[in-house]
Amino acid sequence: MLLRRLVYPQIISASKKLFLQNSRCINSNLSAKINILGIETSCDDTGCAVINGDGKLLSETVHSQNLMHLRNGGIIPDIAQDLHRTYIKPTVNKALEEAHITMEDVAAIAVTLKPGLPLSLAVGMKYAKHIARRYKKPIIPIHHMQAHALVARMHHKISFPFLVLLISGGHCLLAVAQDVDKFQLLGESMDCAPGEIFDKVARRMKLRNVPEYSKMCGGQAIETAASKATNPHQFKLPLPLAEYKDCNFSFNGLKTSVLLHLHRKEVYHKTVAHELIPEVNDLCAAMLMASTRHLIHRTQRAMIFCQENKLIPEENKQLIVSGGVACNNYIFSALQMLCNETSYEIYRPPPKLCTDNGVMIAWNGLEKWRKQIDIVKDFESLDIESVSPLGENLIEKVIAARISTKLMKINTKV
Ligand code: KG4
Ligand code: ZN
Repeated sequence: MLLRRLVYPQIISASKKLFLQNSRCINSNLSAKINILGIETSCDDTGCAVINGDGKLLSETVHSQNLMHLRNGGIIPDIAQDLHRTYIKPTVNKALEEAHITMEDVAAIAVTLKPGLPLSLAVGMKYAKHIARRYKKPIIPIHHMQAHALVARMHHKISFPFLVLLISGGHCLLAVAQDVDKFQLLGESMDCAPGEIFDKVARRMKLRNVPEYSKMCGGQAIETAASKATNPHQFKLPLPLAEYKDCNFSFNGLKTSVLLHLHRKEVYHKTVAHELIPEVNDLCAAMLMASTRHLIHRTQRAMIFCQENKLIPEENKQLIVSGGVACNNYIFSALQMLCNETSYEIYRPPPKLCTDNGVMIAWNGLEKWRKQIDIVKDFESLDIESVSPLGENLIEKVIAARISTKLMKINTKV
């Protein structure tokens, strides 16, 4: 994904220190000679990275299909597969080259096998098996969402258990990460993901026609347009699932309401083919604020559920926000406010590690390697899964708890 460069100087310098501390803790005999190659092809980015046993990132390469999909008005699975096929070998080779290693120096190949677009996942799996066979290396199968959840541990000292909010173009979920391979799902989207509605609405609003937004993904274009809003409150949007005392999400209704407002304004202004409505910035801001309120509302309840069910001890009150939508500074600031209120620490990976990338796959591979779990030498029977649960499903338990929450007031300007 093409993302606006966001700068987090204080986070980066603090995380560097933590990273060094972490690195020193690891037994150097065990770790120094280990290199994990990570391969990610679950959606539209061909990502690859090499991380050594000390957790040091040696290289990262990515071939983004964003521009092609922008041109096509969305991801076309066959085209995504073709592009993965074309770029997988050069992307892997470049990562090895930039890490100054060869396949002989690789201890294991971590590869995303689930969940994702089947045609895309298959390319990564086949290539990983091909090189694993050729160089006699084991494969570490990776769950894409677990990798999103754990990558923040690469830069921050975050101990298990912790709460995770994963918000991307394909997913929206709240979970507790108890360990590298133990997750508890508290809530998930019942229809689409926030990034998906941002992308669809941005397309329908014709934001691409504004040169400044022409190369941005939908979410980023909406965030930028929203920052120019002057009167977002002219658009009233509902709080999704307000009556449901669970941690699930729904974004479809919000999308429909935004599109209705858009349609009415287009009719009112008699806009022609390529024109945007004059209130486009305000409508983007209203949509961003409504999505944020929904995310806050469900996260608030998840925090109470964790406390009541002793899933996260007092000293571990940490929220990790990851996935492409976590790049959004308005959403992150609102979550920061919630965390201030509830005495949670909040973390998010740097923006390029929030969106899909090979680093999170290599990192998840290293976390598994350190625990010696899921290292598959006999990998021929490994297969992809387009849909895959994150872990233990606690959604019914959350529903049964019927926790009431008063939506926190968000005092942040778009
Ligand atoms: O995690 P990701 O790269 O791919 C999936 O696994 O879906 O997330 C991509 C999604 C896209 O829908 C994109 O519009 C959204 O993340 N996104 C954003 C921002 N940057 C990327 N959404 C809101 N604000 C942003 N700044
Ligand atoms: Zn993702």
